[in-house]
Parts: sequence; structure tokens; C-alpha cells
Amino acid sequence: MYRTHTCNDLTEKNDGDEVILSGWVHRRRDHGGIIFIDLRDRYGLTQIVSDPVKFKKAHNTMNNARAEFVLKVKGKVRPRPGSNANKDLHTGEIEVLISEAEILNPSDTPPFEIDQDKDVGDDLRYSYRYLDLRRQRLKKNIILRHKVIKHIRDFLDNKNFLEIETPILIKGTPEGSREYLVPSRLYPGHFYVLPQSPQQLKQLLMIGGVDRYFQIARCFRDEDQRGDRQPEFTQLDLEMSFVEEEEVMKINEKLLIELCKKFLPDKKIQEEPFSVLTYYEAMDLYGTDSPDIRYGLQLSDITDIAKNCEFGVFKNAVENGGVVKALRVENGAKYTRREIDEFEEIARIYGAKGLAYIVIENGERKSAITKFFKSEELDLIIKKCKAKDGDIIFFSADKFKIACESLGHVRIAIANKSNLIDDNILAFCWVKNFPMFEYDEEEGRLEAVHHPFTAPVNSSHLEADPEAALAKAYDIVLNGVEIGGGSIRIHSEKVQKKVFDILKISEIEAERRFGHMLRAFKYGAPPHGGIAWGLDRLIMIFAGEPNIREVIAFPKDQKAKDLMLGAPSRMPEQQIEELHIKVIEKKKS
Ligand code: AMO
Ligand code: AMP
Repeated sequence: MYRTHTCNDLTEKNDGDEVILSGWVHRRRDHGGIIFIDLRDRYGLTQIVSDPVKFKKAHNTMNNARAEFVLKVKGKVRPRPGSNANKDLHTGEIEVLISEAEILNPSDTPPFEIDQDKDVGDDLRYSYRYLDLRRQRLKKNIILRHKVIKHIRDFLDNKNFLEIETPILIKGTPEGSREYLVPSRLYPGHFYVLPQSPQQLKQLLMIGGVDRYFQIARCFRDEDQRGDRQPEFTQLDLEMSFVEEEEVMKINEKLLIELCKKFLPDKKIQEEPFSVLTYYEAMDLYGTDSPDIRYGLQLSDITDIAKNCEFGVFKNAVENGGVVKALRVENGAKYTRREIDEFEEIARIYGAKGLAYIVIENGERKSAITKFFKSEELDLIIKKCKAKDGDIIFFSADKFKIACESLGHVRIAIANKSNLIDDNILAFCWVKNFPMFEYDEEEGRLEAVHHPFTAPVNSSHLEADPEAALAKAYDIVLNGVEIGGGSIRIHSEKVQKKVFDILKISEIEAERRFGHMLRAFKYGAPPHGGIAWGLDRLIMIFAGEPNIREVIAFPKDQKAKDLMLGAPSRMPEQQIEELHIKVIEKKKS
């Protein structure tokens, strides 16, 4: 028997009990010949003590033990002498006097300390992830992840959702990112593709009459890595039959609120029900389709005022169908030249050609551009932006998306700089009515913004002006992070064909890529829709972590490598040949 209790079980109630514990040496202290060890397992810590006289052999074993050795000990529980009790530990009232001790396994000196949550380089942490997992921070996050997922499963089970696994070796999914390919040994030159999401399969499940499906689904996307992206990540994927947008949104909202109340009871949900913004409103007011609405700092539109001014940059932008957006910052008149340059640099990263500004100080309007405006025009701008003395107004003039997005990033930078963000608030919002299509300059054609199975708000718009057509698509945003997205799907073959037409996917191409879907839709596809949450992102926010790697047991690093396993790796030539593949290495020039 390895243990009678875990390292977090024993309290004063166990005084005098004979117990067996197993665990790792967390900390070892030598107090004048008596050895104290904090023995650790997943559940907690228990202080064990040696007696060099009465139990010499056990004492010697404990004396030889070092950090991270695995020990099995037997002993008697006793209260810690008065002032030695540790209120922070569940077992802090007691210690165990050891009569027998056995080293189950020694340990090399770990490359970083397990008993402290000190900053250790990421490479070291990923290379020795199993040691990192022993530390408090990751352990807490992994347990939280389990509990959140368990709650989700129970909630959906209760609402008649069936959890169904879908295959990992599939045919390409048109989600828009680059796919991971798996060569087929049996069919030379043929490949499986790892799913970017179970999108097509969950729709086929609806055609299969499943009615309500969910899955904690692994997704694979070969895209550039960022703090909130991983090459493989996990979605809560779900799909429902006979629903409209509101029903999908409602059930997800209910689940999100439950999760927040259970796992973040000290935080405040900003608004219930969640506010709903159209894509246009989100861009127009916040300069992003995933707005952080914990703070105001909204953008204004001064296109109407600017179109008649003498400032060429603004005038031209409007004449070319663009807009002029403004961001008023309270008390921003105090910004230094250097700070303003930094904001301009941010705006430029997101495509702006500059960041004009007006400072309002002591009743004067100071700026390089005021000379291009009539006094009444400046009055109107200031009124529109609700600016007052001591403020600054920034401007971006460009096509709608660039003008909004560049100023939107300046908005975020200002909120961070001025500490406008309240960490105790959970601000959810829905963003809906996305455009169906977006013009892809490189490809020279329209692309689906969500995916080509997304239903239009009004299918007659597809004919008239596809670029203006809106989609029955919705994203759920939490504190400025897109944590999920979904849509109502097309269930009519005619509408689907029309969408393929607009995307310039020929009939032959559609048959080659989605023939299975088009065929299935001929057999009575029910109206259906769904959503997928980026589960890692949600748990990242719940855990208060800055990136999703902190809530994934074995993540890839920023260069998509698994440093622990050493993947990707070279494979034996013969194995590659069997796959009918030839590796061509580009010579480094
Ligand atoms: P979408 O592509 O918007 O939709 O993905 C849904 C959510 O998944 C998260 N996400 C990611 N998380 C971590 N790493 C990544 N590389 C990554 N990419 C996306 C985001 C996103 O909101 N099949 C559709 C859903 C549907 O229509 O039902 C889909 O996958 O939080
Ligand atoms: P210029 O006349 O080019 O010196 O520009 C005057 C100011 O306008 C500078 O502060 C520029 O950063 C700014 N500016 C230039 N182009 C734009 C633009 N498209 N939108 C907003 N400000 C701009």
C-alpha cells in the first residue's frame, strides 16, 4: 500500500493516527539534526519530521532524500507545537513523525525550482513540461480547465446535446487557414487533412438527425503563432437543428454566465443579457470586431464635417469613398511629442497613413492642421467628439476598415497606458451581421468572411450586391478577445450554389471539394446553425493568464515546435518513401 491519505488530507482530527503517505520532496530542511520535509502530491503538502534517535533508519533515509525524490513514509500524526502551525495550509495544524521511510525513486536536480513560482525561461518550461506541471501555477490551470469542461459537458447533456467524436483524418475544410496534411501510404499522392474544425462533419450530423451535437474538439491550423493562437487548439464545438441566431446565442450566453458565476464568483459580469453590436457598430465605435467594452473611449465619425475642409488628406480620403474617424482622449493635451509619435507608430502598423491630432488647451486649438479648417468646422468637430479643454483628438482618414482599425489600436494603447481597464469586470458582447464576403486583393475575388456554408441575412441581396450582403454570423467577445464564433448555415442547395458562384468556385471545383456536402443537402437538410468557442482562450481569461499556452498541458512554442518531444522531427527515409514522398531541401543561400 502506497498511501492511506493524500498529502492534503490530514488535520487535527487525525491526531494520533498511524498513516502512510507517498509524494515528492517539495522542500527539505535540516534543523539541528532533525529533518523536516514538505511532502507534496497533486492535492497539497504535508510536513513530515524525522526522529534521529527513535527512528534512526527512517531518519537516515529522509536525510538522504533531495528535492523531487519520490518518498513513501509511514508515521504518526501529531499537532504542530503551538506557534508552528501554518494557517495557509490545509494540513498546517499537524505534522507526521516518521517511523519508516523508503525512497521509491531518486531524482536528478531539476533544471528549475518546483517549489517556487519564479519566472523561468519559456524554453526550459516547455522542454521539461512534466516538471512545470508539478508547479502550482500550471496545476491550478489544468484543474480549472478540467472543471470548466466538466461543467460544460453536464450543462449540454442536460439540454439534450449529444457528445459525438468526429474523425481527425478528413478531407480539407474550407475555414481559410493553411491545413496540416497527412500523406496516405495506400494511395500514392493522396492526403488526409487534419480538421481546422469539425465544421462539415457537424453539419452532416444535423443532416443525420442528431438535432443537438457538441464536442470538445481538437482543431489544427497551420498559421502564424501568437499569444492566443496555437497550431492545435481546442474548441467547444456545437450545432443545433431548427434554430435561428437568437436561440444559439441564448443557450451559449446562459452557459457562459453559469461558468462565470461558478468559476469567477468575485468578478462582475458587466451586462446581462450581453449587449449585441452589429459588425458595423463594433468597427465604427471601437475600431475592431472584437471590442473591449470594459471602457468607453469610443470613436466618432467626422466624415460629414471633414469633407468640406481644406486639408487635402481628409478631403481626398472622403472623395475616394473613405471616412474620417476621430478619437477624443480626455486630458490628452498633456501627451508629449514622443508619446504622440508612439501612437502614430501604432496607427501606421495597422495601415494608417498618419495620425493627425488637435490639442485643446486654454481655449486654444493647437495643431498643424487647424489652419485647414474654418472655426465653425473645428467647433463642430469638438462638439461631435464631446471634447473639452485639456483633451486631445486624434484622426485617421482612410477607407472605413483601415481608418477604424488603426484608431481602434490607438484606443487600446491609450486604455492600457491610462489604466482604464478594470480587471474585475467580465464584459461580454455579441457581434453579428458580419459581411458575407470580403474582397481578397491577392486572389482578385470575393472570399467568405466566415465560411462558405454561412447563411445570408437576406438571400435576395446575394444577387443584387454581394459585397453588401450580411451574414447570419455571430462572434462572442469577452474583454476584447474573440472567444467564439458561429453562424446559421445555408440549408438550401440553390443558395449554396449561388454562394459558390460568388466565390468563383466552379461547379467542377465545388463537386471536387464539397461534393459530399452538396449531395447530403439533397436529402432533407434541416435548418441548422451552431458555434465554436476557443476553449483555450476562455480558460486563459478565467485563469487570468496572458496566453493560451499557460492553460494547455503540452503546448507548442512560438515556432510551432514541441520542445519536450522534439517535434517536428526527421523520419527514417524508408518510412518517407513508403508514403511516396520525396523531401526536397532548399539550399540555404
Ligand atoms: P472560428 O474559425 O471562428 O470558427 O473558430 C472558433 C473559435 O476558435 C478560436 N480559435 C483559436 N484558438 C486558439 N488557436 C487558434 N489557432 C485558433 N483559431 C481559432 C477562436 C474562435 O472564435 N467552424 C467554425 C465555427 C462555427 O461556425 O460553428 C469555426 O471554427 O476563439
Ligand atoms: P502632412 O500634411 O503630411 O504633414 O500631415 C499632417 C498631419 O496629418 C500629420 O500629423 C500626419 O500624421 C497626419 N496624417 C497624414 N495622413 C493622414 C491620414 N490619412 N489620416 C490621419 N492623419 C493623417
